[in-house]
Amino acid sequence: MCAGFQTTDKHLEPLWERACSGVEPGSCELPVRGLASSDLEQLASLAHAAFAGTVDSAPLALWTRKLSSIMNSGYGPFLPMASLVAEMPSGQLAGAVLATDFPAYKAPVIALIAVAPDAQEKGLGCCLLGHSIRALALEGFPMCRARISPGNEVSQRLFRKLGFALRSHSW
Ligand SMILES: CC(C)(COP(=O)(O)OP(=O)(O)OC[C@H]1O[C@@H](n2cnc3c(N)ncnc32)[C@H](O)[C@@H]1OP(=O)(O)O)[C@@H](O)C(=O)NCCC(=O)NCCS
Repeated sequence: MCAGFQTTDKHLEPLWERACSGVEPGSCELPVRGLASSDLEQLASLAHAAFAGTVDSAPLALWTRKLSSIMNSGYGPFLPMASLVAEMPSGQLAGAVLATDFPAYKAPVIALIAVAPDAQEKGLGCCLLGHSIRALALEGFPMCRARISPGNEVSQRLFRKLGFALRSHSW
C-alpha cells in the first residue's frame, strides 16, 4: 500500500512527492471512471491479487477493511475526483488509484495504486497515476505525496517515472 499510515513517526518513513501541475497523462488504453462505493468488493480482490508476493501483501479481509476505511475518510478526507478505476471490457476492475487529503502529510496522498497482475506492464499504472495527479492539480492542490514501502522497487520506479522524488527535508 502506498500510504500504510502505520507509524506516527514520519521521519522513519520515506515520503515521495511532486508538484501536481505539469502532468498530461493522455488517454488510457482501458476506460477510466470515478471509483464508486459499490466497487469495494472488487477493489479489495484487485488489491489482494496485485500486492500478493510484494512487501505489502495482506489477507483479503484486511484489504477490505483498509479500503473501506480509506473510502470513508478514515485516512483523511477521501478525494473522489482523484480516485479512479480502469475497467476491462468484462466489467472487471483492471486497476485503481485512491487519493485522500491526509493531514499528517499536509497534502493529498496517493493512498493506493494497484493494477491486476494480468494487466500490468502495459502502461495502466502510469496512466491512472497521471490522471489522479492531474485531477489534484485541477482542484488546486500544489503538491501530492506518497509513502512507498522500502523494498517495493516496482512502485518506486513507477513513481520516479511520474516525476516523484524522495522528500529530503523535514516539515
Ligand atoms: C506498481 C504497479 C501499480 C505498476 O502498474 P503497471 O500498470 O504495471 O505500471 P506501468 O505499466 O504503467 O509501468 C510504469 C513504470 O513502472 C515500472 N514498472 C512496472 N512494472 C515493472 C516491473 N515488473 N519491473 C520493473 N519496473 C516496473 C517501470 O518503471 C514502468 O515504466 P517503463 O515501462 O517505462 O520502464 C503494479 O505493478 C502493481 O499493482 N503492483 C502491486 C501493487 C503496488 O506495489 N502498488 C504500489 C504501492 S505504493
